[in-house]
Amino acid sequence: MSEIGFGAASYWGKKAFDEADAIRLVHTAVDRGVTLFDTGASYSGGNAEPRLGKAISTLAHRHDLVIATKAGSCTDARGKRREDFSASGVRRTVEASLVRLGLDAIPLLNLHGPEIGNLTDDLLDTLSRLKEEGKVRHLGVNSFDMEVVEHVMTIPLFGTVMIDYNILRPEREPVITKLAARKFGILAGMALAGGLFGKDRFRVRGVQDLWYIARVLKNHRADLTRARHFRFLDRESSTGAEIALGWVLRRPEVSCAVLGTTRMHHLLANLQASGATLDASLLEKIGRAQSAFA
Ligand SMILES: NC(=O)c1ccc[n+]([C@@H]2O[C@H](COP(=O)([O-])OP(=O)(O)OC[C@H]3O[C@@H](n4cnc5c(N)ncnc54)[C@H](OP(=O)(O)O)[C@@H]3O)[C@@H](O)[C@H]2O)c1
Repeated sequence: MSEIGFGAASYWGKKAFDEADAIRLVHTAVDRGVTLFDTGASYSGGNAEPRLGKAISTLAHRHDLVIATKAGSCTDARGKRREDFSASGVRRTVEASLVRLGLDAIPLLNLHGPEIGNLTDDLLDTLSRLKEEGKVRHLGVNSFDMEVVEHVMTIPLFGTVMIDYNILRPEREPVITKLAARKFGILAGMALAGGLFGKDRFRVRGVQDLWYIARVLKNHRADLTRARHFRFLDRESSTGAEIALGWVLRRPEVSCAVLGTTRMHHLLANLQASGATLDASLLEKIGRAQSAFA
């Protein structure tokens, strides 16, 4: 898969975000070599998955892309997120996702934030059968709970884990080393740390900015305090986004840095980070900033 993955989620998937713009971002990402697209049945009120399906429907080689979607969560008729890790619920979600994405098989299915108790024998049997039936190719787990990640490492059925790994989460280093030792593919979600590194983080240029600011205040307030230590990034010659992505991708064990964007110029800048390296003095400055909170 490509080093940079496109998050078909968050504001990108919302009905309020223009569908033609959303599709143009996906097509540009594909044209520039992005092969991994991460979405979920419950993302963006249920609109992200069918929107991604629509975006890829015109691509002749869509079956070669690594479309990663999630089960264990879904949306009800009113667009409200519901959790369902029952074996039958996960099977239902997978079958509906295949239709919404217009695919014969899901290249990568991640369980969406399960607790250890959700990973029952019944569920694992069903996931195994979905693979045998050819409906799912690879299985993984998306979790930001390191106890769950440690447990998942003991289950041979799973081959990938998506965790929150970014410049504000240096505490994830040991788990990355462990996952790699066990030959897990590692996807870094929220790879841009929500865009909190730059001087523009509270500049409102569109509705999406208000939406992202509200999400940080609701779910990631502690990141705001951490991000203060990275103001020096504004004074570097590369952009904060390039540095933030370069930092995630400096670890070869990370297969893919998955980011979200609604702006073409951000997408293009982010793609520049693939293959870029950070020099030793910058890495040292980042390390010093991280040691203030880690
Ligand atoms: N957040 C979660 O809890 C979560 C959970 C599981 C999986 N994931 C996966 O991870 C993906 C990324 O997560 P995310 O969207 O929450 O966080 P993210 O990628 O770390 O940050 C997205 C924010 O960064 C901004 N941004 C993007 N490129 C930028 C650039 N070059 N310069 C400045 N700002 C930039 C975006 O604004 P613009 O729209 O203006 O570019 C948006 O506000 C998701 O799409 C999903 O696939 C996330």
